[in-house]
Amino acid sequence: MNDYFGEVLTNKEIAPGVYRLDIIISKPLPHIIPGQFAMLEIPREDCILRRPLGICSAKNNVISFVYQVKGEGTQSLTRLEKGDKMKVLLPLGNGFPNLKANNIALVGGGLGVVPLYAVAEKSDCNLSVYNGFSSKENSILTQDFEKFGRVVLCTDDGSAGYHGYPVNALEEDIKKGYKPDVIFCCGPEPLMKAVKNLGARYEILTYLSLEQRMGCGVGACLTCTCKVAGSNKRVCKDGPVFCSTEVFE
Ligand SMILES: Cc1cc2nc3c(=O)[nH]c(=O)nc-3n(C[C@H](O)[C@H](O)[C@H](O)COP(=O)(O)OP(=O)(O)OC[C@H]3O[C@@H](n4cnc5c(N)ncnc54)[C@H](O)[C@@H]3O)c2cc1C
Ligand code: FES
Repeated sequence: MNDYFGEVLTNKEIAPGVYRLDIIISKPLPHIIPGQFAMLEIPREDCILRRPLGICSAKNNVISFVYQVKGEGTQSLTRLEKGDKMKVLLPLGNGFPNLKANNIALVGGGLGVVPLYAVAEKSDCNLSVYNGFSSKENSILTQDFEKFGRVVLCTDDGSAGYHGYPVNALEEDIKKGYKPDVIFCCGPEPLMKAVKNLGARYEILTYLSLEQRMGCGVGACLTCTCKVAGSNKRVCKDGPVFCSTEVFE
């Protein structure tokens, strides 16, 4: 893990309230495991704490993030312009294991699709991607994922693709004979709980990427502690990826 100086290449809105931020880093990027995240400096004097964002893509010296405006930190990020300088601490957390599996199913909900995109970009396996959004207007990265595998776009309101949740779309495919070796999921808690249950029902190894409020992002402040297999773990340092059998018990 290192603190890198970066320069903003682009920062543009790709869906309502959702931005893609590309940063060029001054020195070669380290090895990044899909599912790892970064702590980004916020360009505001009264925002001392950095904000955690999943690494979407890392190629050559360019690192990409996709973020949704939530509060003052992410709102301030929208004001970054080409050429602005910022610090980025990375790579943090453990990332997804089993990337050499033959068949991987990715299940993402909303901004949860971001770290899964890093899996798609780096893995050579057969990928089936089930990405869910509230509507077509709020969907992101669909064409980007399509470069790497079969994508089932799911919308809650039926405005595009499969009308329903991505976990249901995956289950329908499993009932038709599709059997992934491993499932990776990131998204809202109800989606991750449903995917945990699906993995258990069909005996498929399943990993979930958890999100917790974070202070330091490096294991020092304990803000992000959660129960994993009955003991306290730090989501930033011991996670954010955990085997589904160990969480939401
Ligand atoms: C490992 C990880 C990866 C993430 N990846 C992404 C991503 O790729 N794209 C994206 O849009 N969002 C992502 N998030 C959520 C994102 O970090 C929060 O939306 C963001 O920190 C909110 O900051 P804010 O200042 O706008 O909101 P505020 O609510 O004003 O934040 C106040 C404080 O709470 C912390 N905080 C608030 N919400 C969260 C949250 N959900 N998770 C962690 N800390 C939070 C902030 O860091 C800050 O210190 C990720 C969170 C984690 C833990
Ligand atoms: S955020 Fe500080 S220990 Fe995890």
